[in-house]
Amino acid sequence: MQIKLEQLPTPQVYFTMTQTLLPRPIAWLLSENDDASYNLAPFSYFNAVCSDPPLAIVSIGKQDDGRDKDSIRNIRERHEFVIHIASCDQLAALNQSSATLPPGESEVDASNLELTRVKGLRMPRLSDCKIALFCERHDIQMIGRKKQQSLLFAEIKEIYLDDSCAEITEQGRLKVHTDKVQPLSRLGASEYASFGEVLFAKRPD
Ligand SMILES: Cc1cc2nc3c(=O)[nH]c(=O)nc-3n(C[C@H](O)[C@H](O)[C@H](O)COP(=O)(O)O)c2cc1C
Repeated sequence: MQIKLEQLPTPQVYFTMTQTLLPRPIAWLLSENDDASYNLAPFSYFNAVCSDPPLAIVSIGKQDDGRDKDSIRNIRERHEFVIHIASCDQLAALNQSSATLPPGESEVDASNLELTRVKGLRMPRLSDCKIALFCERHDIQMIGRKKQQSLLFAEIKEIYLDDSCAEITEQGRLKVHTDKVQPLSRLGASEYASFGEVLFAKRPD
């Protein structure tokens, strides 16, 4: 099968892309609402793009009615936010947090997820996530033709790693035990991938 995307209507392009860019990491994004409650939503158009400065991108589309999603609206107004890496056992809560709630209604409160405050930082983190990336808005660029998306450049300022899954080796390097994190990833449609076997290959000289 050979598929030419330019011949497909946009929804088909979306389905084709999400079935073929596999697997995708998921940004479980916590932002602050106007009333100081917290908004939480998953985004799988997400990846690392630069180390200096440390940048990840998240591509955030519009609501069906053309309004901005709460996450990007919050981040335009308040530049700090937190991207979590969810574990496989958090699939139900993560999926539930993608429901469209009225603006200002908190997915965190709705799902009874707990938050942990971090000394010196404005934003808390989800208590049960093993990895949390504390970010600041670096830039937002508008992309897309008819229905524009916000491409958020997230500058990662600080990273929380649960002690159960990370150590500093004798050589002084950070080692994250991914089998303890069990990161959840996204496939096409309603499919997700659980964490598999760790493979190993040294870079050629
Ligand atoms: C696993 C998963 C990944 C998603 N990825 C994206 C994405 O990359 N971009 C996007 O705009 N919406 C994505 N969505 C949909 C948003 O999570 C959904 O629109 C959510 O209601 C947005 O919340 P907000 O209005 O509180 O920001 C995804 C949903 C799920 C379940």
